Amino acid sequence: MRSLLQKNTDKFIIAPSVISADFMHLADEIDRLKALGIQMLHLDVMDGCLVDNITFGPCVVKAIREYTDMYLDVHIMVQDPLKYAQIFALCGVDNITVQYEALKDPEKDLLRIKEMGVNVGLAIDRDTPVHVIENVISYVDTVLVMCVKAGFGGQKYAVSSVEKIRYIRQMIENKGLDTVIEADGGINLENIKMNVDEGVSVIVAGTAVFSDGNVASSISSLKKAVKG
Ligand code: DX5
Ligand code: ZN
Repeated sequence: MRSLLQKNTDKFIIAPSVISADFMHLADEIDRLKALGIQMLHLDVMDGCLVDNITFGPCVVKAIREYTDMYLDVHIMVQDPLKYAQIFALCGVDNITVQYEALKDPEKDLLRIKEMGVNVGLAIDRDTPVHVIENVISYVDTVLVMCVKAGFGGQKYAVSSVEKIRYIRQMIENKGLDTVIEADGGINLENIKMNVDEGVSVIVAGTAVFSDGNVASSISSLKKAVKG
């Protein structure tokens, strides 16, 4: 993910969350995003156990992989993250982000996922205190700050997220790491600049990108909202 950011002129990238896209025309949606210069797709996999929602599995992710060369950022919200990380790594995705809350032995689990040959992300849910990742942040490429309760798009951004992002940025600086900070959930025109200014390099957005049916103007408005 770091190399993607380095190539990017903006100091952040937008990763559309495809669960908010039109699934009946997913290929067209991906083509449209690519034509707009989007380089990363955020794929939310949910099992209905760790979170109340169920979305899609390996057959959809594999089809997306075969369809596009965009960077696939898979966020797995499942009860058995190691089992499914292996399955999605075999689909050829670029990054796998797991929920901290689902890890039995965070250090061991994260190292196991790293060995699968993918970039590794660690997500902390909205209500999980940020200090819990202190001992494992050096094991991951990305920290994903959930700004809503994991499970659904379209929720309201939790303002407590800014504090968590600031704390994580300071943790990364103090430890001399180059971990990427990604924010996910409820991000829109009103709060995107605050997140980027706090150090977020990857902005996940579903509703803000897809809900008004004009993806091109949504993305350009989000970018303008940061530039001021
Ligand atoms: C929620 C997912 C998010 C969500 C973002 O559990 O991880 O990626 O789809 O959607 P919006 O941007 O609509 O909050
Ligand atoms: Zn997500």
